[in-house]
Amino acid sequence: MSAKGIFLRLAVSAIAALSLIGAANAADMSEEAIAERIAPVGSVYLEGQAPVEAAMAPAGPRAGDAVYNTYCMACHSTGAAGAPKAGDAAAWEPRLAQGRDTLISHAINGFNGMPAKGTCMDCSDDEIVAAIDHMLSL
Ligand code: HEC
Repeated sequence: MSAKGIFLRLAVSAIAALSLIGAANAADMSEEAIAERIAPVGSVYLEGQAPVEAAMAPAGPRAGDAVYNTYCMACHSTGAAGAPKAGDAAAWEPRLAQGRDTLISHAINGFNGMPAKGTCMDCSDDEIVAAIDHMLSL
């Protein structure tokens, strides 16, 4: 084969190889597509961006037993500070006689030794009511 022939063959196979690479890279090369592919897995929150509230918001209202076990049990299972004990019907009777609204209002706003919201400051009123209902069911 002449030198010219070898050169031609090389040139032809080089072109073939290049067009193969071209085909493989035919995927979206737009700027957005590239930015998306090389974006970090965990994005960083930058000032001015919308905060990722959805990821941080609690899954939903906490159940009464969860609130009771975390915040109320310390006093209400032991009777500490004169708290009416859960399951002690005699202790609860005069309190229930005041009416449910008073009971709930005292639990939410505090009453003598009973701290407001039983110290669960980020509890919603509904979560406090659920905790009371759980306590009364014990
Ligand atoms: C630091 C101790 C303490 C914690 C914690 C606590 N309580 Fe109390 N709670 C008391 C005391 C003491 C009383 C009795 C107050 C009184 O009648 O003088 C009371 C009373 C109550 C009453 C009756 C109010 C009334 O009108 O008779 C309810 C209902 C109640 N607590 C609910 C809760 C709930 C729900 C939680 C948790 C979210 C909680 N408490 C956490 C100490 C506590």
